[in-house]
Amino acid sequence: MEKKAMDRKVCVAPMLDWTDRHERSFLRMISQHTVLYTEMVTTGALLHGKDPERFLTFDQKEHPIALQLGGSDPEAIKVCAAKAADFGYDEVNLNVGCPSDRVQKGRFGACLMAEPDLVAECVAAMAQSGLPATVKTRIGIDEQDSYEFLHELVTKVKNAGCQTLIVHARKAWLEGLSPKQNREIPPLKYDVVYRVKEDFPGLEIILNGGVQTLEQVEDHLTKVDGVMIGREAYQNPYILAEVDQRFYGEAKIKDRSEIVDQLCEYAAEKVAEGVPVKSITRHVLGLFNGLPGARAWRRSLSQNAFKPGSDESVIRRAYEDFLVAGQTRDVA
Ligand SMILES: Cc1cc2nc3c(=O)[nH]c(=O)nc-3n(C[C@H](O)[C@H](O)[C@H](O)COP(=O)(O)O)c2cc1C
Repeated sequence: MEKKAMDRKVCVAPMLDWTDRHERSFLRMISQHTVLYTEMVTTGALLHGKDPERFLTFDQKEHPIALQLGGSDPEAIKVCAAKAADFGYDEVNLNVGCPSDRVQKGRFGACLMAEPDLVAECVAAMAQSGLPATVKTRIGIDEQDSYEFLHELVTKVKNAGCQTLIVHARKAWLEGLSPKQNREIPPLKYDVVYRVKEDFPGLEIILNGGVQTLEQVEDHLTKVDGVMIGREAYQNPYILAEVDQRFYGEAKIKDRSEIVDQLCEYAAEKVAEGVPVKSITRHVLGLFNGLPGARAWRRSLSQNAFKPGSDESVIRRAYEDFLVAGQTRDVA
């Protein structure tokens, strides 16, 4: 499949352990246009890991797709961004938002907000790949949460060649909160992201954090250029079904039964390559969320996909279980 132009009106967030290849392929069955991000891949894993290709390989159908890097050594970032270009990614993104201890020890993620010159160097290094070099950041860290602090970072990355910024609309506390708490406790401040767009009208600004409906996406799009959805897209993936029609001018919305058919085809292909079917089914538990029978779908997949030798037929069976339970109105 040909590369698609990057139109970042709707994106799905990079999520470690969640947005792997199978998840991305599944989301692509639901929406053709939503921009997808890989999990964060560290420069260390790409340069010194056992099997770097494992992190880089993706299916052509996943376009448009961005590789998210974790790192802060401009030389390493440059080499990794060149790899992203060689593998055919559409964008390379730097993680300046993750607050985990492990990431801080490596001097990357959200703690980099305190080193805007270094982030700018990393951006310049990424841009040498010829790919759009983008940054995903928070609005502040710890006590460094003034608008001026964010403004300085944005100015520096812009001057280094970044034209697209993804802004998670809450700050991060680098100590005392887990990454999960850091996605829930600091309050969301959408106004700060809107203000960045006002002050940098030439930059493409993508808002992230707490978005759960396409109505909310529509509202934010009156103020910013794009919206990135994280947890909701994972837990309730069918939210993306209307994205192509509402935001990209496509005529058709795929129904869930078509998605199940495609999923079975995909799983059959992957199982034949030696992928355990559970590596795929773990990502699709939320497909029927909110419908009668959703619980039966989840239960059936969870019970059967882990059995030795199981294959794509567990998906077909789970769909039948969903249909039967739906008729008896097993509550979601
Ligand atoms: C399981 C999980 C893993 C995540 N991993 C990453 C990551 O690798 N890189 C990153 O920039 N953000 C990561 N995040 C943060 C998300 O990209 C996003 O910024 C955050 O979840 C807020 O968006 P939401 O409220 O729509 O979920 C992760 C979030 C979750 C839930």
